[in-house]
Amino acid sequence: MRFPAACLFDMDGVIVDSAVHHFEAWKRLADALSIPFTEKDNEALKGVSRVDSLEYILGLGHLVLDEATKVKLMDQKNAHYLRLIEGMRAKDILPGAKEFIEECKEAGVAVILGSSSRNAQMVLDNVGLAPLFDAVVDGNHITLSKPDPEVFVKGAQAMNVDPAQCVVFEDAASGVRAGKAGGFAVVGLGDEAVLGEADWVLPTMQGLTLERLCTALGWVD
Ligand code: BG6
Ligand code: MG
Repeated sequence: MRFPAACLFDMDGVIVDSAVHHFEAWKRLADALSIPFTEKDNEALKGVSRVDSLEYILGLGHLVLDEATKVKLMDQKNAHYLRLIEGMRAKDILPGAKEFIEECKEAGVAVILGSSSRNAQMVLDNVGLAPLFDAVVDGNHITLSKPDPEVFVKGAQAMNVDPAQCVVFEDAASGVRAGKAGGFAVVGLGDEAVLGEADWVLPTMQGLTLERLCTALGWVD
């Protein structure tokens, strides 16, 4: 069994189920601008940065706004989102995530966060997982949004590990693409139809072990 040098976790939709809160906050903004915006539209925003998400929604409404207005709208959306997640605690960690991360730590597998969110550190602190992470790379440290691999490449660099020996965990198509583009093995968490480009797709991390992971990836030598 060849364990990974590191596991790199996306946050929203992998560690915590925050997509519903992102949706609620974007939905209020879209409604105020009279732009039709559905949960299906929200799927395309998973893994996508705040600014690119706003541009996507404005595009749905064929709306062109000046930079100052866009900054104001993003600040409003984020303030609403922060209110929605301020009560997030350990109970909001997705099934199996904490147990698998703890197994990684015990086995000496580096644990890295690779998130597009600028709120990642706060969420990790709120749910009590921050001490388990060896490195955190988030939306404050990157210039290119997923599907660009920058966030994961920087995470691997922070721990001086080779992407080919690491596994990325992602719930978004853009994130799966980012992991593959960076040369990582990728586990998709969610719907096979959305995440089919991943090396292995699971519904959740519930019951996941390093042994199951390595077997599924063929890392058995
Ligand atoms: C990603 C989410 O993790 O972070 C996206 O999947 C979100 O939906 C992006 O837009 C940026 O998040 P934030 O917290 O910086 O607005
Ligand atoms: Mg995600």
